[in-house]
Amino acid sequence: MELKDVIEKRASIRMFTDEKVPINDVKEMIRRAGLAPSINNSQPWKFITIINEEIIEQMGKIVQQKVLEYFPHENIKEKMMAQAKVLRFSSFFMDAPVIVAVEMSPYKTVIEELLKGRELSLENVNRLRNFPNIQSIGAAVENLILSAFDLGYGACWLSGLLIARNELEELLGITSPNTLAACVAVGHPREIIAQRDKKSFDEIFELID
Ligand SMILES: Cc1cc2nc3c(=O)[nH]c(=O)nc-3n(C[C@H](O)[C@H](O)[C@H](O)COP(=O)(O)O)c2cc1C
Repeated sequence: MELKDVIEKRASIRMFTDEKVPINDVKEMIRRAGLAPSINNSQPWKFITIINEEIIEQMGKIVQQKVLEYFPHENIKEKMMAQAKVLRFSSFFMDAPVIVAVEMSPYKTVIEELLKGRELSLENVNRLRNFPNIQSIGAAVENLILSAFDLGYGACWLSGLLIARNELEELLGITSPNTLAACVAVGHPREIIAQRDKKSFDEIFELID
């Protein structure tokens, strides 16, 4: 598919058929994800691919438990509705045949050497630069999602599940200083979804000349 078509037609997919995704297709998505730009070409990522149904279900249950713990509905109607929504958006991935968990390594640069003994900490530089490693992960995840669509699959970016980040990291064997940055659900879409409404060009464009 033309890149322009992929970009213009992609939509987040949250409902999948039971059909399996050939592992070579997932590998191709990840290969392309790994070609994304990253801070100092550090490529601060590893893509853990989960196709084991029991582990995916376990991940979902861990997330659901955390949601119920953090957002009790207290029998209040509005809270019940909000809780149901959070549950859906953070754990629908349980029905996906593939989950790609993106492991992120910390941002480290030569700047660290320059910072030694100075007031500005690496953490502050990181904040000032708006977390270049997280930005890098975003580029890779976008490559992955666009590639999934290009290869005929549906995908959805997942950060809601990070409510149970510690538990998921333990389950997936991600150890400090690395963290679980995000996940992506991939599968055959149950239905074709048109691209959702986006802001108009005029709303997002500003020219300084
Ligand atoms: C950083 C990020 C995190 C997201 N996390 C979730 C999530 O946890 N659950 C979910 O259902 N969708 C998630 N999404 C998908 C967005 O909800 C979706 O992109 C948005 O509603 C626009 O729809 P579209 O992707 O179809 O254009 C996430 C998207 C991004 C970029």
